[in-house]
Order: sequence, then C-alpha cells, then structure tokens
Amino acid sequence: MSKSFILVCDGMDKKLFSELSSNPKFEVYPEAKNSQETIAEIRKKAHGMVIRSATCPDKEFLQDCPNLKYIIRAGEGTDNIDKAACAELGIKVSNTPGANNNSAAEHALALMMTVLRKTALANTSMHSGKWEKASFTGNELTNKTIGIVGFGRIGQLLAKRLIGFDPKILFFDPIIDTHSVPYDNIQKVHSVEDIFKSADIISIHTPLNNHTRNMVNYQLLSSMKSNAILVNAARGNIVVEEDLVKALKEGKLKGAALDVFSSEPLAETSPLLGIENLVLTPHLGGSTDEAQFRVGEMAVHQLNEFFVNGNLLNEVKA
Ligand code: MLT
Repeated sequence: MSKSFILVCDGMDKKLFSELSSNPKFEVYPEAKNSQETIAEIRKKAHGMVIRSATCPDKEFLQDCPNLKYIIRAGEGTDNIDKAACAELGIKVSNTPGANNNSAAEHALALMMTVLRKTALANTSMHSGKWEKASFTGNELTNKTIGIVGFGRIGQLLAKRLIGFDPKILFFDPIIDTHSVPYDNIQKVHSVEDIFKSADIISIHTPLNNHTRNMVNYQLLSSMKSNAILVNAARGNIVVEEDLVKALKEGKLKGAALDVFSSEPLAETSPLLGIENLVLTPHLGGSTDEAQFRVGEMAVHQLNEFFVNGNLLNEVKA
C-alpha cells in the first residue's frame, strides 16, 4: 500500500500529527518548525501539506511540488496561497474555519487593553528598574464607542466578549446585516468612513482582498478622533504602514496595535519600529495551545477524509 506523504510546515500541535503518523496510510514529516530550507528540500515528496502563515506557496513553489494534491491552511486566511496556481495545477485547498477564531478575538481585545492602559510600556520600564507611575495613566474601555470593520465570525466573537464593557458597538460589513446579529445595541453603519470618524476604538476583522488591500490609508486615519486607537489583528496590507506611522507621529490618533504586517517577519528597518504609542506582536492571533489543538484536530480530520475517504472538506476556491 502506498503511503501519502504529509509535510507539516510552520509551528503546529505536534502531538496530533504524531498520532496521524501512527496510521499506516500516512508518512508525516511533523517537525514543529520546519525551516523554509527544509521545506524546499522535502516538498518534492509531499502529497499533502499543512501550513500556517509563514509558508507562502506561490506558483514557483507549487511547480516544485510535482506530487502535491492538497494544501490545508491550518487557520483562517488563505491569502498566503496562490489559489489560482493551485487550481491550474490541480491542487485542492482547504482551511480550518472557526478553529482559532476565539483566540483571534481575545488577542484583539488584549491589544486594545494594552494600548489603552500602556501596559507594554510600563512592563519595559519596570524591567529596566524604574517606577514611572505618573507616565502610564491610561483610559478605560468601558462605555466607549467601538467600531468593528468586518463582522464575520471573529468580529462577532469580539463584540460578544466586549459587551461586558457596556460599549456602543458599531460595525461595517458589506454582507452581514444587523438582523442576523444575535446581540442588542449593535448598530450597522454605511461605510468604513463612518466607523473611522465616530469610534474611540477601531478593530479590523476583514480578510485581505481587492476591496481591503491598503484600505486604511492616511486619509482614513486622519479622519479618526485624536484620542482614538486602532487595532489590526486581521491581515497586513490592510493598513498602509507608512501612513500609520505618519498619522501617529502627527497625533491624528492616540495609539495603535498591529499583530500583522505587510511583510512577515517584520524587517529590522521597518518604520513601525520604535514608535512609542504603537504596540507590536508577531502575528500571535491564532497562537494559543487551545487554538492550535482545535486547528490541528480539524486538519488531521480533513487529511484523513481527503486521502482515505476521498472527501474534500472546507474547500477554499480561487
Ligand atoms: C489565521 O488566518 O488563521 C491567522 O493567520 C492565524 C495563524 O495561523 O497564525
């Protein structure tokens, strides 16, 4: 019986994939963190590949995978995969919808609190032996107007978790309507512009596509209230990074937090580095033990279905 060779790229729940290797139908290359060099070496053998955001299969990459039939994006966004090239080469693509959404929503909330209460700055200051209480007076989240751009699964989970802070929640989404949202006191607005000019805290939860690429530019940032803050834990390239730097330096907004970047890992020369009222985290939205367990469980199930039972679950098309 011939085995399906599965290459697991990027950091993922190792235990689940070791369990998969005990199935005689699979040979799994389950390094928790395969380097891009290792991946380049062994991808020629792969029938299936499981990736997160660090591995970006473009056409050139895919042409070097003659046996590849199936890619699972262990997470939500598939913008790092050239899906048109996959379609051309007969490679199917799936994601694991919903599995890490709670962690992503919680991380957006954590970033809001970090900016509002200046906890990252206070932590750095304390570890350098200082006691600068007067420098770190913050703001409350309670009773603020919160604008959520993109009201799919993650945006709605965030709203649900925010409700305890008695906020006014505005959202913009081209598809979701207020009547399909199971919470009171949440209002849909007509445009992204409406969110940016009215909200005290803005959180982005859209996919990256032709409508959202470079959506948050200098003009939009300049329309924010000067004491407002912005959080982007969705995708890099939605916020124009140079424009955010300019707007922060000019005081167009009070602070911001980014978990995602136009290029990852962030370059050492990025203009985002060293800006005091900007909190940065290295794409941690889905990085919890709980999320990675759920994502891994779904990926393993989908691999079984595809290679053993011939079923394609959660397909994402070009
Ligand atoms: C996702 O799209 O699910 C996120 O990028 C989370 C991740 O895989 O790290």
